[in-house]
Amino acid sequence: MKFTLQVAFGVTLAAATAKCGNPWKAPGPEDYRGPCPMLNTLANHGFLPHDGRNITKQTTVNALGSALNFNASLAELMFEMALVANPEPNATFFTLNQLNVHNVLEHDASLSRSDAFFGNNHVFNETIFNETRAYWTGPVLDANMLANGKVARQVSSKAFNPNYTFTSTIEQFSLGEVIAPIVAFGDVDLAMVNRTLVEYFFENERFPTELGWSTRSTPITLEIIGKLTGIMSNATSLITTAEPVVSTKRRDLHFGGL
Ligand code: HEM
Ligand code: MG
Repeated sequence: MKFTLQVAFGVTLAAATAKCGNPWKAPGPEDYRGPCPMLNTLANHGFLPHDGRNITKQTTVNALGSALNFNASLAELMFEMALVANPEPNATFFTLNQLNVHNVLEHDASLSRSDAFFGNNHVFNETIFNETRAYWTGPVLDANMLANGKVARQVSSKAFNPNYTFTSTIEQFSLGEVIAPIVAFGDVDLAMVNRTLVEYFFENERFPTELGWSTRSTPITLEIIGKLTGIMSNATSLITTAEPVVSTKRRDLHFGGL
């Protein structure tokens, strides 16, 4: 039974891969990979160079455009921000392993990677990812669930990593990373995303095509990113408004739904 299922699943996977113009291929020992699950995924599918090297502005615009329907100006902006990772002055490209340098772009309290203090800061770490997804409490992730995972990782790092560093600049990057699953795989108007797609993506560094996902048809713009970042920033607050929560509780507890 198990074998039959595996064969059946294998055939489905092969069919899905054949339909997708950019088939997935695992990285080899000489290929560079980094702390960004999306850039790794894009390289695994060949949207970015499979060896993880020589990522130029044009390569980035093409990759983010064709795989995720990012508009060109947003992709260009992201590339410009990434260039700091290449230590060469006036660099025109970066490589995926250049992103691994701690506290340049890579930072503590990642959703799926260990803090540099504890060891490897760029390879997917299931124990860490389990910490995050313990807060993904439903089949559809909303801003609160994603925010709770982020904040929990920060509390864990702050408590146990004596080098814990999280500046306000890092917070802005971090918010961008926490909304990224919605941007790539979810509904940007509702700010929600199916948990299974997100888990598959993190665990496999592969597009969840065989789970029914495909590239969205309307472009992702800087404006959409700004709106989602605001929603996520609000959701990370541990302060609530008094009225709705208290009044709902009171009605439920004391007035029997009146
Ligand atoms: C994390 C770079 C585009 C999704 C990261 C990190 C870096 C990075 C350096 C590690 C931060 C950390 O320590 O956690 C970049 C660059 C990009 C890019 C240079 C484009 C030029 C994207 C896109 C998406 C994405 C387009 C998805 C829409 C993520 C996610 C994380 C992340 C979800 C968090 C991983 C975690 O916390 O474990 N990215 N990224 N990235 N990135 Fe990207
Ligand atoms: Mg990190």
